[in-house]
Amino acid sequence: MSRTRTRTALLAALTLVGGATGTAMAAMPGDVGAAAVPCTVDYKVQNQWSTGFTASVTITNNGAAKSAWSVKWSYAGNQRVTSAWNAKVTQSGAAVTAANEGYNGQLPTGGSVNFGFQGSYSGTNAIPATFTLDGVTCNVDDGSGGPGGPTDPPPNPSGKADNPYAGAKGYVNPEWSAKAAAEPGGSRIANQPTGVWLDRIAAINGVNGGMGLRDHLDEALRQKGTGELYIQLVIYNLPGRDCSALASNGELGPTEIDKYKTQYIDPIAAILADPKYKDLRIVTTIEIDSLPNLVTNVTPRPTATPNCDVMKANGNYQKGVGYALNKLGDIPNVYNYIDAGHHGWLGWDDNFGPSADMFKTAATTEGATVSDVHGFIVNTANYSALKEDHFKITDTVNGTSVRQSKWVDWNRYTDELSYAQAMRDKLVSIGFDSKIGMLIDTSRNGWGGTARPTGPGALTNVDTYVDGGRYDRRIHLGNWCNQAGAGLGERPRANPEPGIDAYVWMKPPGESDGSSKEIPNNEGKGFDRMCDPTYTGNPRNNNNMSGALPDAPISGHWFSAQFQQLMRNAYPPLS
Ligand code: BGC
Repeated sequence: MSRTRTRTALLAALTLVGGATGTAMAAMPGDVGAAAVPCTVDYKVQNQWSTGFTASVTITNNGAAKSAWSVKWSYAGNQRVTSAWNAKVTQSGAAVTAANEGYNGQLPTGGSVNFGFQGSYSGTNAIPATFTLDGVTCNVDDGSGGPGGPTDPPPNPSGKADNPYAGAKGYVNPEWSAKAAAEPGGSRIANQPTGVWLDRIAAINGVNGGMGLRDHLDEALRQKGTGELYIQLVIYNLPGRDCSALASNGELGPTEIDKYKTQYIDPIAAILADPKYKDLRIVTTIEIDSLPNLVTNVTPRPTATPNCDVMKANGNYQKGVGYALNKLGDIPNVYNYIDAGHHGWLGWDDNFGPSADMFKTAATTEGATVSDVHGFIVNTANYSALKEDHFKITDTVNGTSVRQSKWVDWNRYTDELSYAQAMRDKLVSIGFDSKIGMLIDTSRNGWGGTARPTGPGALTNVDTYVDGGRYDRRIHLGNWCNQAGAGLGERPRANPEPGIDAYVWMKPPGESDGSSKEIPNNEGKGFDRMCDPTYTGNPRNNNNMSGALPDAPISGHWFSAQFQQLMRNAYPPLS
């Protein structure tokens, strides 16, 4: 709470100023006079455009416990609330009332509750001056500006960096680095930052004598020296993990949500909150390839799987993600990024909006709020090309749109960058913070080498045009396992494009996506035929060949042939 002004009376706050975001912040514990405040209301405009805005409101009750609540305010301008979530909001003239939903009426002493809404306005969108909770005045914005007033930038109440990657070096995982360096030519990339996957409970203390979480964080402190350093962790152990595939099934059964919370997330959160690590920027990417399955791979879709139907029905993906976001998001130097699939999965209209809504549902479950979310990651462990230069979604050939080509097949996006930027806009429009940033995993989406097209395809028809020009050489966009022909993509770096916090190598190059045949193991990993080069496909890749490399070990294990291919086909090429 770096920017709350203290006053002798009730209380602090700032006016909405000059830009899209602003905060009305009541006194917090520690402020002069705070003890007298029966309640505080933190009203934040999260995103604002010329005719509308979204806001997030957090109420803290300092009085007696309540089992129902109602907050009121009045607008000085012509704001109208048009829709709301996590509260029933009504408006009469300028007066707004927000009352609890059936599921969030409990407000203990010292407890907080958050809700959000979208509204319209014209002219200025000033933050209301006064709020009441059940008729009692909470906090007053005196509108005087002053410190924290119109000339200051919007506050960052969490104290987190806007982009944790900016101005920081990345943690090099010594275990991955050693494997990379042991490969012929591998020293060219062995000093790149890659994700540390906490893919089972035992990974917290270290598997088979390997490094545990504290070992990585201690090593990160050593690598950090006096500058800034980010370390990337992958939170990956949901109950019923990988419901649409088998290659990365995990240790927890579909119902083991309590074990996920108490034996996985809680211990991780306890370690990350250790003050020893407070100066590290800890990036946590949350549960790869989970939530979108609840949209795309459930009944009545032809792509439904029984396991995804089970996970949709029991809600344990949303609960697990919400719980992780809430616990980890509370730690001041932890930055949560939720997995948001990739364009070859969610780029169709039927999948795009509903998946964004699903992320919102998860991010407002189990105590999480949208402020626990720093951004989203796309293309993790996937192969979608970053930018297709030789065709655009708006191109037509003989009057036929490229969207009608077999490759694009009505998708709205041709590549990962355009998808990531559009998904970001969508997420902001439904209430995520306007400052969220995207990460794009470029560990295996380079598509260089001799097969890389150097110009557009022939204009015979849309298929020759798209297929002749596309960098992504997969047989089908839905193929995802150890793809033949793929190369390393862009090297990790911060702020590469608008809205993108960084290109990252979250899935470490050289680690298998799944075994090409059944291999017994004690990790819960199954055999998914999408990793078998002889497989002829299923509805999720429109019954095409899998395009997978042969002789792959189980997912996560070192796969030298894949590593060598990724280096050979790197784009930009390795020098
Ligand atoms: C595997 C994990 C592994 C990760 C990184 C996932 O597909 O299931 O066990 O840690 O990839 O290689």
